[in-house]
Amino acid sequence: MPLTPQEELEVALERAAKWLRGSKSVCVLSGAGVSAESGVPTFRASDGLWEGHRIEDVASPDGWERDPALVWNFYNARRANVATVKPNPGHAALVGMEKRWGDRFTLVTQNVDGLHREAGSKNVLEIHGSLRHTRCLGCGAVTNRGLEPLGDAPKCPQCHGRLRPHIVWFGEGLDDDIWMAAMQAADECDALLVVGTSAVVYPAASLVPIARRKGATVIEVNLTRTEASAQADVGLYGPSGVTLPKLVERLS
Ligand code: OAD
Repeated sequence: MPLTPQEELEVALERAAKWLRGSKSVCVLSGAGVSAESGVPTFRASDGLWEGHRIEDVASPDGWERDPALVWNFYNARRANVATVKPNPGHAALVGMEKRWGDRFTLVTQNVDGLHREAGSKNVLEIHGSLRHTRCLGCGAVTNRGLEPLGDAPKCPQCHGRLRPHIVWFGEGLDDDIWMAAMQAADECDALLVVGTSAVVYPAASLVPIARRKGATVIEVNLTRTEASAQADVGLYGPSGVTLPKLVERLS
């Protein structure tokens, strides 16, 4: 008799937990799916549109040059959305994992919503920036503004220069120090969890082959198979707000 999907998940959870129990260091690569159950929309579920906007209009240097007010209004709307949501049990489970591994646990996230930190995760590398931070185009200051409304042409509190969202847009490079730390964590880990990401955006997705090359076990947590699935040793297919807590339960 073939296993039911529920039985398959139980077997996969047991395998993943066994690998994790034997791991000295753990790295996580998270994406939009981990925040989906909190009510933050994912990117690739919406026909190439992002809340009604073309991605190149609101998330690229060209879009910014053309219409900064449109870009600010878009990010203010996303900030307002995040202000109304809360971390979910998937975020909380990753906090539990960090407690177990301490400084041998690194959470690399592509998410800009800040929900991992809000949940209590500490060693978080936000490789695509943060909705909560602004960057001054004059003095370069990066400031945490929380989620307060910022208007459509905010000015730097220090030098009154123009501010932009502190987000990595398409066509822009990642912060060198943050990306080096992410690569090091993937390179040195014994297990990499790939959670709620379609794994199509680079360089983030390259953390999977980086970890594999050094023999790390790759565990995928997603609703469905993705571009990373062929490289995963085990897949936990279901909502991360359900599967991650089940996985953490099995670690003790
Ligand atoms: P995507 O929208 O591409 O992928 C979301 C993934 O989450 C998909 O694979 C879904 O199957 C999965 N998913 C949805 N709900 C889930 C749930 N409840 N539990 C588990 N998995 C779930 O988002 P990302 O992979 O994060 O970049 O996108 C990567 C980058 O592309 C983003 O960081 C952003 C975007 O362009 C920048 O802003 C620079």
